[in-house]
Amino acid sequence: MSEPTSHSSPIIHRVIVHFAMEAEAAGIARRFVMGAESPLHPALPARVRTQQVGAVELIHCTNGIDSQHGVDRIGLESAATTAWALLSAYKPCIYINAGTCGGFAGRGGAIGRSYLGGRAFLMHDHRVPLPGFQAQAEARIPAEHYPALERQLGIDSGPVSSGSSLDATPQELEFFEQEQVVAKDMEATAIASVTRDWGVPFLAIKTVTDLVDHPEPSHEQFLRNLASSSAHLTDLLSELIGFLGQGVSLTRLRGVETEPSADS
Ligand code: ADE
Repeated sequence: MSEPTSHSSPIIHRVIVHFAMEAEAAGIARRFVMGAESPLHPALPARVRTQQVGAVELIHCTNGIDSQHGVDRIGLESAATTAWALLSAYKPCIYINAGTCGGFAGRGGAIGRSYLGGRAFLMHDHRVPLPGFQAQAEARIPAEHYPALERQLGIDSGPVSSGSSLDATPQELEFFEQEQVVAKDMEATAIASVTRDWGVPFLAIKTVTDLVDHPEPSHEQFLRNLASSSAHLTDLLSELIGFLGQGVSLTRLRGVETEPSADS
């Protein structure tokens, strides 16, 4: 049987939405009245919920709680291992990494403002000054471009850079300027690398909890703004999931296809 199509390209019928923190993820689970969570893999604390939303089977996943430290399993390592296990369990039409990020006032960033990952996914704290290896360390994974989705959601896109720390060194701040990074996080580039290996389209959506180029320490801003920025993220993601639930194709998200005209 052939796949259902919209304007001749396949409709997106299965979507993974992967979060690092429960605080970022809980709103969507509530909004779409998702059922009980189940383990993703016996060797991981990651938890999965599923729900049909219109045309789309939504796979909602969090990395789970670190059994040694009792906190959400944030960071590159958990992001990559969870992504690999998720992709082997559910081959989605598109993989969304949703979460919070550090933003940059100097590039229009503000608390609660959201971005789609655009241009490239980078790593800012991997330093390997060996021929060829420095380029690999910085990742620079090309981002897919979803201009129609940017218009639909009314948000901008730009480079996302991932690393293993909440704060930033002077060298990293220089890197963010050079690369015109709009979102600093701890997951997206690791997941982009895994989805690239699997050949699965990837999209990152990030909401700012703290301004990296502000004198107040990131962790203080983050703690104060996590709940409100997660609520903004939930609203935006709900709109995105609702839109996908109407039955849209990847090419439509990318803005390649136009709406059918009255006479077609
Ligand atoms: N997530 C939210 N804020 C962040 C920051 N400043 N750095 C990395 N990840 C973040």
